[in-house]
Amino acid sequence: MHGMRLLTVFALSSLLVAAVGVAGVGIFPPTCERIECAEFDVIAEGDGYEIRRYNSAVWMSTSLIDDISLVNATRTGFLQLFDYIQGKNKYGETIEMTGPVMSQISPSDGPFCKSSFVVSFYVPKKNQANPPPAEGLHVQKWQSKFLAVRQFGGFVSDDTIGQQADALLSSLTGSNWASAIDPSEAYAVAQYNSPFEFSGRVNEVWITLDLHASAM
Ligand SMILES: *[C@@H]1O[C@H](CO)[C@@H](O)[C@H](O)[C@H]1NC(C)=O
Repeated sequence: MHGMRLLTVFALSSLLVAAVGVAGVGIFPPTCERIECAEFDVIAEGDGYEIRRYNSAVWMSTSLIDDISLVNATRTGFLQLFDYIQGKNKYGETIEMTGPVMSQISPSDGPFCKSSFVVSFYVPKKNQANPPPAEGLHVQKWQSKFLAVRQFGGFVSDDTIGQQADALLSSLTGSNWASAIDPSEAYAVAQYNSPFEFSGRVNEVWITLDLHASAM
């Protein structure tokens, strides 16, 4: 029932979203007009990037998914998380859809190796104090997390995601934020749309900043 309603909402809203273009940064994902999204403060804006602070965000995360494809790993993780919010959890509780879905990437050692991905669902405020546990899933809590963010449109593709991450890194080069990039941290991709929306799609590439270790 919930799933059907969700599909209907997504199908109708794609008509509205179609009018909205995507470029650069500072776009409010239209999806977040309809569903709860992780809140953040923009603490700085630059050419092609913005710096955000997420305060006490809670995520429900899959275990490591080995794949050569971010798109396929995200699909695998999303299906597991979709079951979770439909009630496949220890309390049999249904949970409202939220945004974004986050795919964190640990790059592999070589070009022909698999990467590891963790796919996460943003837990709505209502459930953050006590998210239902579920087999194969764990909670990820962000106390205060600083991210450099670049937005891009269209469908996330394995062929272009590396370029988006490179573009974000390049835009940070020479800025005050460059020294705060933690080289041990891989990047993440945040997706705000259902697969049924064909236009007005908003995606983001996220790089974690270690602002405490940097001289600002
Ligand atoms: C992703 O999954 C599709 C469908 O199962 C498959 O055809 C495709 O080869 C996969 N892509 C990669 C890069 O593994």
